Amino acid sequence: MMDMDHRAPAGTTAALHLRLGSFRYSEAHAETLGEIELEFSPGSLTVIAGDSGSGKSTLGGVLAGMLPRPGADQCQGTVTLAGQRIDYSPEHWPRIDVAGWARHVGLLPQDAGLYLSGIRQTVAEELVFARENEGMPREEMAGLIDELSTRLSLEHLLERDPAKLSGGQERLVALAALSAAKPSIIVLDEPLAGLDSKATQAVTSMITKLRAEGTALVVLSRTAEAWDAEADSLWNLAEGTLQRATAGAATTALPSKPKRPSVPAASAKPLLAFAGVQLGYKGASAPVLSSLELEVRAGECVGLAGANGTGKTTLLKAAAGLIKPTAGKVRVAVDVGMLLQNPSDQLFERTVAREVAFGLPKKSIQRVRVPLVLAQLGLESYAQTHPYELPASARRLVALATVLVREPQLLLLDEPTEALDSAGLQCLCKAIDSVLERGGAVLFSSHDERFMSSTAHRVHRMRSSD
Ligand SMILES: Nc1ncnc2c1ncn2[C@@H]1O[C@H](COP(=O)(O)OP(=O)(O)OP(=O)(O)O)[C@@H](O)[C@H]1O
Ligand SMILES: [Mg+2]
Repeated sequence: MMDMDHRAPAGTTAALHLRLGSFRYSEAHAETLGEIELEFSPGSLTVIAGDSGSGKSTLGGVLAGMLPRPGADQCQGTVTLAGQRIDYSPEHWPRIDVAGWARHVGLLPQDAGLYLSGIRQTVAEELVFARENEGMPREEMAGLIDELSTRLSLEHLLERDPAKLSGGQERLVALAALSAAKPSIIVLDEPLAGLDSKATQAVTSMITKLRAEGTALVVLSRTAEAWDAEADSLWNLAEGTLQRATAGAATTALPSKPKRPSVPAASAKPLLAFAGVQLGYKGASAPVLSSLELEVRAGECVGLAGANGTGKTTLLKAAAGLIKPTAGKVRVAVDVGMLLQNPSDQLFERTVAREVAFGLPKKSIQRVRVPLVLAQLGLESYAQTHPYELPASARRLVALATVLVREPQLLLLDEPTEALDSAGLQCLCKAIDSVLERGGAVLFSSHDERFMSSTAHRVHRMRSSD
């Protein structure tokens, strides 16, 4: 798997031991991670909390053997994995077999879709992709598919195309596929993001089961809130260094805002109206939504709540004109802008400034509006950065900037708080306020109940087949 000349210190029982001196990306002026020592024993749950940009994903990359990138990033430290020791130093680049490492450490990235192979045609095939490559017999694979789908309630998705799932469904499928590969250490970056309460419950019990089988679990999360009771060790990561946290201690909890004071007058003009609308996808056995009645009026902020896969994204896409109804009428009276659930689907330029300016009709408009919107969202210092080099919170704000710069009167936001840190959340709330103040309207989906109750004038609850 890696340099064989170094053996682990005798007597170590840890599944992985990391002693890091420092880590710096090749293009960076400063270190992203400083001195860090971590040890994961079989069956343990380690939770590392930290704000966006604190270095969580970098740490996840180091644990998964994806970082440092050979010959580029600067790294000093030692990883002991599966009885072998790997030394990183400026003078010595260990030879690393990333695929071999992945058999020991599985990483579910924050953008869970990146874990999926992209070449399997059904969810069932995706679940056992890694095991099929290892030559697992067919009957055993069928048993494994059965077990995983029951555990995570994925039975209804087994024949579906993995590329056409809702955000929450995609995360569950990726997690199931990762656990099927049976790595001895599983690193999960924001594993509960975008999950409804039933899916959250299924994931937490799956983690308990994996631990009982001896898997070491590492959770990277903005806040340790959901993990306090379960974790063997809790850490806070700030500016690249770790500090022990105690259960119950506030880590990076989001500030709560008072409820939005008043619902605008019912006489206000509807900016968006769904009347008897049916929405669905080609080839699907049933429509996602039928007989949908919903109006959003000027000055109004409406939340969409509901379980994973009930059609929140589908409804928002229909409001944006990206999906045509199969029955009924969608009427939109003003300019619309939509923040997609996954910001990566919305970013394709090589700098933040180009990304935000893209598609604006005139250079003169670009010159005025781009700096304004970057300042509004606290992104000025990133103007020349590649969007993919940004921490997740800033990346989502860049996607939001591309929408706000067009000054839409109807703002559609799909899970906008996902990945946002507290500063980002405040920017989002201000952006919503300013659309409402200028007589526009906002329609958003969210699994974040705190955000929902403090932000929406009213909530539209989706059920299966609304
Ligand atoms: N491109 C597609 N083709 C076929 N079916 C799809 C497609 N996109 C979504 N679906 C299905 O439509 C249903 C509604 O999906 P949608 O993404 O609207 O749900 P959601 O409420 O936004 O869920 P989440 O909370 O997980 O984001 C789901 O069953 C989903 O699997
Ligand atoms: Mg969705």
